[in-house]
Amino acid sequence: MMALKAKIVGGGYYLPDRVLTNADLEQMVDTSDEWIVRRTGIKERRIADNDVYTSDMAFYAARKAIDNTNINPEDLDLIIIATCTPDMYTPNVSCMVQARLGAVNAAAFDISSACTGFISALTVANQFIATGYYKKVLVVGAENLSRMTDYKDRNTCVLFGDGAGAFIFEASEDEGVLATEIGADGVGGKNLTSLAFRDDEAEMAKRVSKNKQTLWMDGSEVLKFAVRTMVQATFDVLEKAGLSIDDVDMIVPHQANIRIIDGAVKRLGIDSEKVFVNIEKYGNMSSACIPIALCEAIEQGKIKKGDTVVLVGFGGGLTWGSAVIKM
Ligand code: COA
Repeated sequence: MMALKAKIVGGGYYLPDRVLTNADLEQMVDTSDEWIVRRTGIKERRIADNDVYTSDMAFYAARKAIDNTNINPEDLDLIIIATCTPDMYTPNVSCMVQARLGAVNAAAFDISSACTGFISALTVANQFIATGYYKKVLVVGAENLSRMTDYKDRNTCVLFGDGAGAFIFEASEDEGVLATEIGADGVGGKNLTSLAFRDDEAEMAKRVSKNKQTLWMDGSEVLKFAVRTMVQATFDVLEKAGLSIDDVDMIVPHQANIRIIDGAVKRLGIDSEKVFVNIEKYGNMSSACIPIALCEAIEQGKIKKGDTVVLVGFGGGLTWGSAVIKM
């Protein structure tokens, strides 16, 4: 029997209507549109209303993905949602979405690996499908990062936004995920933190707002890590798949900072036209960036059937992940 591959059969995404522009941020912290655009590439981001949570955005994205297939929610075997901003500690977001979809036959669990989350979840989905254990898996990246953002800290508050993206993978003998690669550097985890239960005076001292849950980041350390891992994880996954950078039709990277993408593009030796960028509209939505970008690239005709696509993510943990997909 041929090894089974996880093939994309439908995708969908959700973005809140509310827009937070650089001009809005100028009113909130000591910053400027010029600085934000030059140092990050971001012009605006979407912010969920106060009564909209990660599970709502995940559900809307999942519902659209399902509507783009001939699959019914009861056909799903598994739902994996990648998020670092769950509505609650329990139930997890996947179970909340399972209930709303009526996906009564699906197992459901969340994955927490920050901006790498969608790739981690896709890797798990691919393993279940490759072994024949499950046939239809819904994978979602959904984040309500605005709730974790310290809007008094100009070093981070300009970067983040909210959104969700979803894909349904089905077992296929032909096209689909060719290879995945995931990794972690726990020692570097201290460079990007959000405390939950943990009391930690040193961490608290770093936070402008003195709020445990807000995100703190050593931006320049994470930036260096991100460029390095985006390049390495792309080369590693291509090697696993027996491909070279010249075989790639499109790279869809995590959208954290345009300078990370530009730096990696140079080192990868790939034409920048082959790297999908939408950071200017949405900023960094952690695990939601890659699935939303992939949906938009398909919608815009930049990715077509038969194309070889690399997805690559990196972030909190620190973690990284990449995947090669034959569309
Ligand atoms: N507006 C104006 N000035 C700002 C600013 C803002 N929003 N944010 C920071 N600055 C200032 C800093 O205070 C610093 O001033 P100083 O030199 O007087 O101390 C100066 O700009 C340079 O800061 P630095 O940290 O060296 O800038 P940078 O080139 O590293 O860019 C980030 C900062 C955050 C944009 C960048 O580090 C980054 O994008 N990091 C990675 C982000 C990321 O990938 N995060 C998520 C993981 S996926």
